[in-house]
Amino acid sequence: EKGGYKHFMLKEIFEQPRAVRDTTLGRISLNTGTVFLSEMKISDEEFRDAPRIDIAACGTSWHAALAGKYMIERLARIPVEVDYASEFRYRDPIIDSRSIGMLITQSGETADTLAAQREMLAKGLKTIAICNVVGAMVAREAHGTIYTHAGPEIGVASTKAFSSQLTALFLFALYLAQTRNTITGDESIALVEALTRLPGKIEEVLRTADLACEKLARVYSTARDFLYLGRGIHYPIALEGALKLKEISYIHAEGYPAGEMKHGPNALIDGTLPVVVLATKDGANHGSRLRYEKTLSNIQEVTARSGKVIAIATEGDEQIGDLVDQVIYIPQAPELLLPLLDVVPLQLLAYHIAVRRGCDVDQPRNLAKSVTVE
Ligand code: M6R
Repeated sequence: EKGGYKHFMLKEIFEQPRAVRDTTLGRISLNTGTVFLSEMKISDEEFRDAPRIDIAACGTSWHAALAGKYMIERLARIPVEVDYASEFRYRDPIIDSRSIGMLITQSGETADTLAAQREMLAKGLKTIAICNVVGAMVAREAHGTIYTHAGPEIGVASTKAFSSQLTALFLFALYLAQTRNTITGDESIALVEALTRLPGKIEEVLRTADLACEKLARVYSTARDFLYLGRGIHYPIALEGALKLKEISYIHAEGYPAGEMKHGPNALIDGTLPVVVLATKDGANHGSRLRYEKTLSNIQEVTARSGKVIAIATEGDEQIGDLVDQVIYIPQAPELLLPLLDVVPLQLLAYHIAVRRGCDVDQPRNLAKSVTVE
């Protein structure tokens, strides 16, 4: 049942190219760049008039929401607010009933997320679910569901569900942009094409990063703490990398926006601290190049204090190798799709470290696959 893999988690990491492909399938036109989302009980006018998108989710799904905020705001120019589902209803959120609510949940049964949905509905919002389980509770209550077609996820640590959520969010962002006329036809076509090329690129990452991460695990599996740094849309991926490591290897890890290090966490850095830095770039995108340059300075801040840097960088980057201890290269992609590639080595690194530490990777202590209590 594990298809020859030692653990479900590893099998599911390797299923990501298919999961992303299946989530895209039937939802795009390559000729026109148009995105189709079926059966929404939300009209185009409602999408056009919405002043905001309010998203609630937990754990890894919350990280997907944070990345989705960048996608939606960038493409559809509509503000997005992201909440932990467990916090949402206790802060008595200020809600405009013309906004659209969104719940992201692999299982569709997470109690906190369902409670947030109930709160949204009570305040008059229409809700959209991004969910991996057909017919789950969240979908029954929603005005529209974008199913992620990741297939059943058995490992407690979410991997292929996460990349499918990012895919669904990217499609949703494009759909909104097309409905609200904030994108040209040519831009749509280019992005849709880039999305269809992504599964092949994830395969490339899997081919090279698996062995590289196993080697890294030999060096770093005894570390006490880890830091993960990223900027922009890569900051949520840093959070996700840290969560993966925490939950399956029991090593303390934190994700941080790289630019925030100098406001406190730099004090943690010493020669024993591994720092994973997301330092990819989309050469065609000005914002991305700027982010990359700033990230290089952040790397130098770490190495100047003897921290050990593991960088995730873009193929063809000849600059970064000299600045860091280890590099894992990933293929090029547009900025908003890069997270689907740079998360893969982080999953593999957490996996190989946990295996070396003899941890129960698929069933980490104290955790359940779906959390049905608030
Ligand atoms: O089923 P959900 O997506 O609602 O689950 C949310 C979290 O419980 C889940 O993502 C959790 O954080 C995972 N164990 C992370 O790997």
